[in-house]
Amino acid sequence: MDLQKLLNEMTLEEKIGQCVQLSGEYFGMNGEITGPLEGYELSDEQIFSAGSVLGVTGAASVRKLQTAYLEKSRLKIPLMFMADIVHGYETIFPIPLAMSSSFDPKLIQKTAEVTAKESYAAGCHVTFAPMVDVARDARWGRVLEGNGEDYRLSSLFAKAYVEGFQSTGIANKDTLIACVKHFAAYGAVESGREYNTVDMSERVLREFYLPPYKAALDAGAMMVMTSFNTINSIPATVNKWLMRDVLRGEYNFKNVVISDWGAVKEPIAHGVCKDLDDAGIKAMIAGCDIEMSSPCYFVGLKKAVETGVLAEAIIDEATLRILQMKKDLGLFENPFRGCDEEREKAIILSEEHQQVALEAALNSIVLLQNNHNVLPLMKKTKLAIVGPNAMERELNGGWSWRGHADNNLLLCEVLKAEFEILYVGERFFTDQVKHADYIIYAGGEKQDMSGEAHSRSDITLPFNQAQELEELAKLNLPIIFINYSGRPIAMTDMYQNVEAIVQAWFLGTMTNQAVGQVLTGAYNPSGKLTISFPRNVGQCPIFYNVNNTGRPYSPENVEYVSKYIDVENDPLFVFGHGLNYGNVEITNISQPEIVNEQISFEVTCMNKSERPTTEVLQVYFRDLVADVVRPVQELIKFEKITVEPNEQITSKFVIEYSELAYVNLNNEYQIDAGEIKFMVGFASNMTTEFLIEI
Ligand code: BGC
Repeated sequence: MDLQKLLNEMTLEEKIGQCVQLSGEYFGMNGEITGPLEGYELSDEQIFSAGSVLGVTGAASVRKLQTAYLEKSRLKIPLMFMADIVHGYETIFPIPLAMSSSFDPKLIQKTAEVTAKESYAAGCHVTFAPMVDVARDARWGRVLEGNGEDYRLSSLFAKAYVEGFQSTGIANKDTLIACVKHFAAYGAVESGREYNTVDMSERVLREFYLPPYKAALDAGAMMVMTSFNTINSIPATVNKWLMRDVLRGEYNFKNVVISDWGAVKEPIAHGVCKDLDDAGIKAMIAGCDIEMSSPCYFVGLKKAVETGVLAEAIIDEATLRILQMKKDLGLFENPFRGCDEEREKAIILSEEHQQVALEAALNSIVLLQNNHNVLPLMKKTKLAIVGPNAMERELNGGWSWRGHADNNLLLCEVLKAEFEILYVGERFFTDQVKHADYIIYAGGEKQDMSGEAHSRSDITLPFNQAQELEELAKLNLPIIFINYSGRPIAMTDMYQNVEAIVQAWFLGTMTNQAVGQVLTGAYNPSGKLTISFPRNVGQCPIFYNVNNTGRPYSPENVEYVSKYIDVENDPLFVFGHGLNYGNVEITNISQPEIVNEQISFEVTCMNKSERPTTEVLQVYFRDLVADVVRPVQELIKFEKITVEPNEQITSKFVIEYSELAYVNLNNEYQIDAGEIKFMVGFASNMTTEFLIEI
């Protein structure tokens, strides 16, 4: 297929059509809706010129729409099908924030491979994932979609998702184009309020927010989605510096940029564009190839070209990129790429895929508290299962619109084989539960309390759970609190009333099977937090890799220092925290060696318990003196180790000087001679330290 020749045959209207994405409703198909539709009046001709469609999936639906579309398409250019397949197609994996707690890029990649396989059979071409916005504020509902507060971890996981979705190339079977989002820095919305302003220095943007997008691109992500927020007071979607200079110039990105839903027209509300025409022109000039779900390109671009305001060459360039993507997908040879109803039946939600979902869910659970080793539960005991999620099957988590929550098991259904269940219910009287050996409180949030457009200003437990737990505590029975949530919850008002806290997140198809295995001890929990759990909402944003102040707090130094008068500075549960049922200890750290700008040392761990135990050995560093203020800690390496009882394992860490670099005031990476402090441990606040001179 000669794309230049095809482009030459296209009318201006047809080219503009390629640059527009409509949701399925315009074609009379149902699909996901993630924003206001606003019922733009589009002609049939415009609708059937749109180059891509959002949210139509399933082999039969895709086949039907593609057939109807091609019948109307003068040049027979196939439609591209895109959707938010964020943590699984129908086999739903844990929300990405939970998955990041696994500290396991290989496992993440495996989930993305399964996702791609199911989506491929369902005719999907592009997924709007991974979302790699670094997020430090638990009020923001979308923390669930990302990989937490650390940009290095997020970069690693971004790569894993992209390699899982796209495998060795999208010409191959069972692959899906990855669209990394939301470019850029959407996770830093002020006050954690959705769609809000982002404002930060370019240095901080480059050092802490851009790397995960870059990592996704380096791994080959073929599409980028712009974000709703401003960058340096210009909305990302019309931000020429961001897309032309940084993304295309510095990162050499050659593929397609798509706007977020309706984001091309939003600069009108921001007050930087006067009308739809103006917004469309500015977005196209800035380098946004596809407008998703708003009409600016249809309304304004033709006139702009005809009046000489916009060079047609800019639209040609965008159109060519879109056509190239269709060619790379093989759509010109086979517009029904992947679509296979028989295969859909055979592989979607297959036993094999559910096993991957279980493995992912198990690895994502974080045991936050386990006083007196109350967990695992003693066998054959009596349980009362109460709380707002006691009878809840909607546990897949946001962005799982193809999932089937109805099939998910209740916790009592999972536990009934091994325990006597005395009582199950969201509501209860203490008389109904007082004869139990344990109270399992299935609490947290409801699934729809996090996700897009679901920021909260109060991130304590909703529905009077803290009060209920206070009442229950009077029974003097061990209470096991299961926190199903899409974000960190501030638990200061209740954690002392419960013995154990299991952070269950929303884990997808196998949520309660995994929670059950952790409760019984069939699985020894291994997850670690990638986001801080604040003590109260006033601490937000809170994250571990903070800068030191000029007046740091220390227990010896408490007056006129950087602290609150009503709460500690640190979170309730820190980054990297996560307990298990074993006891792995660091028994030795070798003398570090430096050869050829590489620092290496070995850490030996021993399991002093009776159970095989998985730990995440974490290495942090601090650059003690630099030209700019450096964080007090940054995770630089980690290794997930499984240690048998009485076994010793030695892990070797090799750190290149270049990995210690930071962005200087000229926005370039720099590394200085001087002292570096290293911290090694199993959580960010539980470390052994040593100094190295580089
Ligand atoms: C969200 C994106 C999503 C898009 C399409 C938007 O509202 O911000 O993350 O990919 O909708 O559904």
